[in-house]
Amino acid sequence: MNRRNFLQASAGAMALGTGFLGWPPGQRVAARDVAGRSRLQMPARLDTRDTGRLALTAMSGHSNFLGRSQTQTTGFNQPYLGPTVVMREGGLAATVRNTLNAAVTAHWHGLLVPGEHDGGPHLPIPPGGLWDPDMFIAQPPATAWYHTHIHGQTANQVHSGLAGVIHLTDGRDDQRGIPSAYGVDDLTLVLQDRRFNGSGRMVYDLHMMDIMHGFTGDTMMVNGQVEAVAAVPKGIVRLRLVNGSNARIYLLYFDDARTMHLIATDGGYLDSPIALDKVRLAPGERVELLVDFSTGGNPVLMSEGDPNQGPAGMMGRMRGLIDTLIDRSFPVLSFSRDESLPARIASVPEEIGGSLPNLEVSPTTSRHFSLDMSGGGMTGRGMMGKRGGGMMSGLAINGRPFDMERIDLKIAHGTVERWVVSSTMLSHPFHIHGALFQVIAENGGSPRPESTGWKDTVLVEDQTEILVRFDMPASRTTPFMYHCHILEHEDAGMMGQFTVS
Ligand code: C2O
Ligand code: CU
Ligand code: CU
Repeated sequence: MNRRNFLQASAGAMALGTGFLGWPPGQRVAARDVAGRSRLQMPARLDTRDTGRLALTAMSGHSNFLGRSQTQTTGFNQPYLGPTVVMREGGLAATVRNTLNAAVTAHWHGLLVPGEHDGGPHLPIPPGGLWDPDMFIAQPPATAWYHTHIHGQTANQVHSGLAGVIHLTDGRDDQRGIPSAYGVDDLTLVLQDRRFNGSGRMVYDLHMMDIMHGFTGDTMMVNGQVEAVAAVPKGIVRLRLVNGSNARIYLLYFDDARTMHLIATDGGYLDSPIALDKVRLAPGERVELLVDFSTGGNPVLMSEGDPNQGPAGMMGRMRGLIDTLIDRSFPVLSFSRDESLPARIASVPEEIGGSLPNLEVSPTTSRHFSLDMSGGGMTGRGMMGKRGGGMMSGLAINGRPFDMERIDLKIAHGTVERWVVSSTMLSHPFHIHGALFQVIAENGGSPRPESTGWKDTVLVEDQTEILVRFDMPASRTTPFMYHCHILEHEDAGMMGQFTVS
């Protein structure tokens, strides 16, 4: 989406009367180009804190990502992606309309709400329909997101644009000493990789390997923009990164090796920042980082290649070795310092104040989940011939491909369970609806820094052990999901469902 298109998008949001509050101050100066490239725009901001109301409309539109030709896309309240929804604890009356000609859902990924409000595959909004869950938000501040979740269609519908970011806030970031000025020193960054055809149109055309490895692209987009430059003040900047890609796993670092201070994971704040030089972000995961832009030049956020892609992807333990032999790094986002932007925060605080209690495991509940990719293998009958979803047998959990009619687990409300999740062939990002968990072991060792806070999604390379707290109820009619967040895997059957009562 180029700038003109993006502005049309937000004009559309205003015309729909969705509560779009206009550009935040830092974004009004956006007309200026930075270093000849366009300046990165934040998604429109939809603040529900005063009204307690959230209105989203799934709609179709056109986006001109490369400035050459239009792609038909979808979004919430705009042609591609959706607004950043700001919410706080308390009642939230949502209204989600569907103006598309296919059913969609609005799943709140990271919000702790009951199954009937979760927006999973059992809550389709038909074409022309409306869904209006009357929700109650009660959980610590976090960066969450929302996206459509129709079984078998999630991958192509999310790819087409039906996703947006959620900021759950308690208004106390000033006391914490962390940036909170939207689009100024608090940047929301949705990372997506895409493919374009020769005329510049975005394409989603699944081949066999795309289902096997997940669909990845060769062009980076941040907030639906290609090659935009993020303007930052000369101080501490907060980056809220959302991996909204269908399948790509990022290993992020700055080209000048500057430190990234991890302050929050999926479920919210850490108790204190962790200084890192590389941060891994798998599909569905979020991290919040503080980065000091007061010194140095104009750094570029880079990523290493996706360990699941290419021939190395299927070689299990060999893949790490091969990755180090082939440098597949690429730029994700360039930054440019803009001295006219206010730098409000000058140093990284020592504490953030997130609370990570020691979870007490209910004694009888230990479960094992195997994320299976067996099928017939590369030459098996399920793998060859047909293209598109459903052709691959063998994408399953514990040998069972997803079935809308089958409840896989019944979990007792208010319990903490120990889940041991193991991956086959590739690394799989494992996500649980309606619950948060703590990672207690990864690949036989202690968890990596990115896995130390509250999580709802974790990349399982080999074997991961988690403690999950089930505080939200879900009935047979609207159960919660657990699944691989490589969307092609999820659609092809690597998903299960559970009730909590
Ligand atoms: Cu982000 Cu079940 O999904
Ligand atoms: Cu989810
Ligand atoms: Cu997977």
